[in-house]
Amino acid sequence: MVIEMAEEKKDTIAVLLEEKRLFHPPEDIVENSNVKKWMNEHGIETYEELLEKAKDIEWFWGEVSKDVVNWYEPPKKILEWKPPYAEWFVGAKYNIVHDALDKHIGTPRENKVAYYFEGEPGDTRKLTYKDLYVRVNKLANALKDLGVKKGDRVGIYLPMIPELPIAMLACAKIGAIHSVVFSGFSALALRERINDCGAKVVITCDSFYRRGKKVPLKKQTDEALKEAPSVEHCIVYRRTGDEVPWNKERDLWWDDLIKDKPEECETEKMDANDPLFILYTSGTTGKPKGVVHRHGGYAVGVATTLKWVFDIKDDDIWWCAADIGWITGHSYIVYGPLILGATSVIYEGAPDYPKPDRWWEIIDKYKVTILYTSPTSIRLFMKYGEEWVKKHDLSSLRLLGSVGEPINPEAWIWYYKNIGKERCPIMDTWWQTETGQFMIAPLPITPLKPGSATKPFPGIQAEVFDAEGKPIKNAGGNLVILKPWPAMLKGFYGDPERYKQTYWSRYPNVYLAGDVARKDDDGYFWLQGRADDVLNVSGHRIGNSEVESALVSHPKVAEAAVIGKPHELKGECIVAYVVLKEGVEPSKQLKEELREHVAIQMGKIARPDEVWFVKDLPKTRSGKIMRRVIRAKALGQDVGDTSTLANPEAVEEIARAT
Ligand code: PRX
Repeated sequence: MVIEMAEEKKDTIAVLLEEKRLFHPPEDIVENSNVKKWMNEHGIETYEELLEKAKDIEWFWGEVSKDVVNWYEPPKKILEWKPPYAEWFVGAKYNIVHDALDKHIGTPRENKVAYYFEGEPGDTRKLTYKDLYVRVNKLANALKDLGVKKGDRVGIYLPMIPELPIAMLACAKIGAIHSVVFSGFSALALRERINDCGAKVVITCDSFYRRGKKVPLKKQTDEALKEAPSVEHCIVYRRTGDEVPWNKERDLWWDDLIKDKPEECETEKMDANDPLFILYTSGTTGKPKGVVHRHGGYAVGVATTLKWVFDIKDDDIWWCAADIGWITGHSYIVYGPLILGATSVIYEGAPDYPKPDRWWEIIDKYKVTILYTSPTSIRLFMKYGEEWVKKHDLSSLRLLGSVGEPINPEAWIWYYKNIGKERCPIMDTWWQTETGQFMIAPLPITPLKPGSATKPFPGIQAEVFDAEGKPIKNAGGNLVILKPWPAMLKGFYGDPERYKQTYWSRYPNVYLAGDVARKDDDGYFWLQGRADDVLNVSGHRIGNSEVESALVSHPKVAEAAVIGKPHELKGECIVAYVVLKEGVEPSKQLKEELREHVAIQMGKIARPDEVWFVKDLPKTRSGKIMRRVIRAKALGQDVGDTSTLANPEAVEEIARAT
């Protein structure tokens, strides 16, 4: 019996993996989709014709913008492209909060639920668009009274509670630039980010629930603020009611602050290309880069892609199960859904707490119609087994989504069969912090191939280039984007050179994504992972060199090299090779100390799974540590030519240590 089932599973996977085998979304989904309606209105008959027409990007983005945003003053020009800088909707006066909140007020939508909140301990809240509007206005007025002005930066260090979107929107409303730091990051990671952007105010909470425990966010914030000269005030929301350390000159309780503030606050009329937020992400250097996004193009990009890919309608209950601390949450929990007037679910805690069916319980409770999550979460649920899923109905679901890492066909099939009950198409969306919006993703009319993010969204021109910059098919190459898109980053905060260097120096006037991809004969894209030294752990992006910097900041460490190793659940896990300083004795205890040290420096998500001590690391003659060689050796692969190394014997050290 067991063997039979295994055989059957293998067969299905084999069939699915055949690239010619297409999964056609159900006819009713296709016919009733938002994109089909738009195509009908524009006399477009087929998916291919839509992609072809949308190659005129100024026409396409100009046209779709009419359905999702309302300018205070219309743009004079759709696009100004001066590589590597693009300005979209040039000359328009705008504020994204006008579309996310203001426009709903005074319409029947003001009484619609914007967010269902489910706390980890089981407490719930329901916020309508009007509730959200009032809370945002009060906080916006409070920020103004604290002296926060247009262009000032505000750091936000909050967990998955409604106050996180409220804080973001309050900043945006008055033209301040928010910089959210993921609540799983450490105090030192927070410090680095608020100092880089020079935040004037930081918003946090006492503590929050995670896996039945409380995470002391205020205490961590205090640690960060010990060396953060730009920060004048710290606003603290009471989530758990815990006692917290208090600095009378600096700290303010959220509730006290907003109590007497007016319920109306004028929305600052911005230029469409004024900055909306900074979000730090990992790159190939040790320092995170502050990706800047803007009000206008970003609004058009996120709202259009959400409306089309996930087909959001007025009666949908949308659950993007990512954290708002990452771009997925910014674009598809906060700005995209609110612009569309959607109802979303926000869940505070761990997916398997208190039991592995917490998510399925939430789906039934709120009648979630669309679920968007990561392959890592799917693999976690696979591990727990189907029994946990079978206890629940899940018949409200009509579409599923995946993001953050390539989805392996086994996970795709499990998701498709057990969660979607072979009824719900899976939208595998490829994009990045920098792109702000989906770039390669199916529409509900797109035939699917499990494991492929399918084709570029209309208006996006992607290719796979070889080393010379020629488009290639059926072979791995560099994923590039040929033309600008509306939610394209403005650059890095305070570092224009690095922006040019990172994305635009490999091929002239073409955006280098940093991923390896393959394009098949049907024009479908198969993402294969990062091309550069960036790790993808559970869909979280971590720079190898960031972890290395954290390790060498330990007084006993001389040098470190960090590689990613395939991991059944996380996709990739972190393995560190460490050279200790003269006279330091290696020990098991020291390994633990180093793992903990990285967690303190960066946050638990970056804690290495394995730490190995070596006497030397393979290097080039110019002293560059050869991670590629280390990785190949550690994984038992061919290391290639090592004759250019200054110390080829160090390669054997890696094998011995592991
Ligand atoms: O390597 C790609 C991977 O995640 C990277 C972007 O990470 P980040 O900026 O943190 O944003 C994550 C959420 C959008 C990409 O360069 N990635 C993201 N989505 C996919 C993916 N890899 C394969 N398939 C995807 N659907």
